[in-house]
Amino acid sequence: MPRASRPKKPETDLATRLLDWYDRHRRVLPWRAPAGKRADPYRVWLSEIMLQQTTVQAVAGYYRKFLERWPNVKALAAAPEEDVLAAWAGLGYYARARNLHAAARIVAKDMGGKFPGTAEGLRALPGIGGYTAGAIAAIAYDERQAAMDANAERVIARLYAVETPLPKAKTELHGLGMALVPARAGDFVQALMDLGSAICTPKRPYCGNCPWTEECAARRRGIQENLPVKAPKSARPLKRGAAFVAQDRNGAVLLVKRPDKGLLASMLEPPLGEWTADFPSKQAALKQAPFPADWKRRAGLVRHGFTHFELEIEVYFADLASRPKTNGQWVASAKLREVALPTVMRKIVEHGLDEGGPLFQTSSARKR
Ligand code: ADE
Repeated sequence: MPRASRPKKPETDLATRLLDWYDRHRRVLPWRAPAGKRADPYRVWLSEIMLQQTTVQAVAGYYRKFLERWPNVKALAAAPEEDVLAAWAGLGYYARARNLHAAARIVAKDMGGKFPGTAEGLRALPGIGGYTAGAIAAIAYDERQAAMDANAERVIARLYAVETPLPKAKTELHGLGMALVPARAGDFVQALMDLGSAICTPKRPYCGNCPWTEECAARRRGIQENLPVKAPKSARPLKRGAAFVAQDRNGAVLLVKRPDKGLLASMLEPPLGEWTADFPSKQAALKQAPFPADWKRRAGLVRHGFTHFELEIEVYFADLASRPKTNGQWVASAKLREVALPTVMRKIVEHGLDEGGPLFQTSSARKR
């Protein structure tokens, strides 16, 4: 005789339906273990740090490159920090690379190469906050953690029609998400990520294809596109300044190292003037130049958005017959891709060198 079936909790039904959907539609991602397999914590950790504030698309190439070069935590710990920063260049938020390296050293030296086995333990490592600890513990160990990133928050806010604005709604959304997490916690959090990215998109969600379409309170009320509500963002201040791209006769570019604390710490950049509310006049800019030369202002400007401000830079270029005595290093144009040059600084160098032809040309191909 069949056992009397106990009525299932609605959360269990929801989780089952999402996992069924995930088993059919899961994305293949370079850091994801095959179905039914647990992922290596090193790979999960590396991918989650890279994915903080960055897209899957931007991360995939970097992830493969890191894994090839440093296949395990001991290899990464043994690498010079400089190499890790250079390999990270272009991914942004460079404190993440420094923390990654510091955490690798702790795991390799103090923990015998084994990552902590719980979210709480993981959280003690540099660069791992609540969300990342939860995501790693769920994905690598199936610990019941909700891992609520922006995608998951959007899905849950719609499922339960939470109208409290973010970030105030975070605790409530975390609680609602947590109540849904089943034993297959790793698959569940990744399923939420996939659902948020493929179906429950910020605009025009594909509700007809959603495994939760019946239960979705926002859909029933037709308000899915209005959720989650976000508190208005304060405008980011605008800073402006001048940059100086100097190139010697062999095509090498002068780069200097940023201070070892603060924004883009220890990364390379072309010499830059002060950042203020307005651009300096040409006369004022030339006083900020690293040395006197025939500095020509390039038309246009370079714009870059940082988390807390927008930056606009006017670029001055000097084509030098000989290298003046100055601080910094002259980097051959063919090597520019191999050094720790953040995206904004790469844009500035490209803008300075751009003579209408391809950028970062080797010296022999360069127009003079
Ligand atoms: N965003 C953050 N972590 C992720 C993951 N493991 N897979 C896909 N997107 C993510």
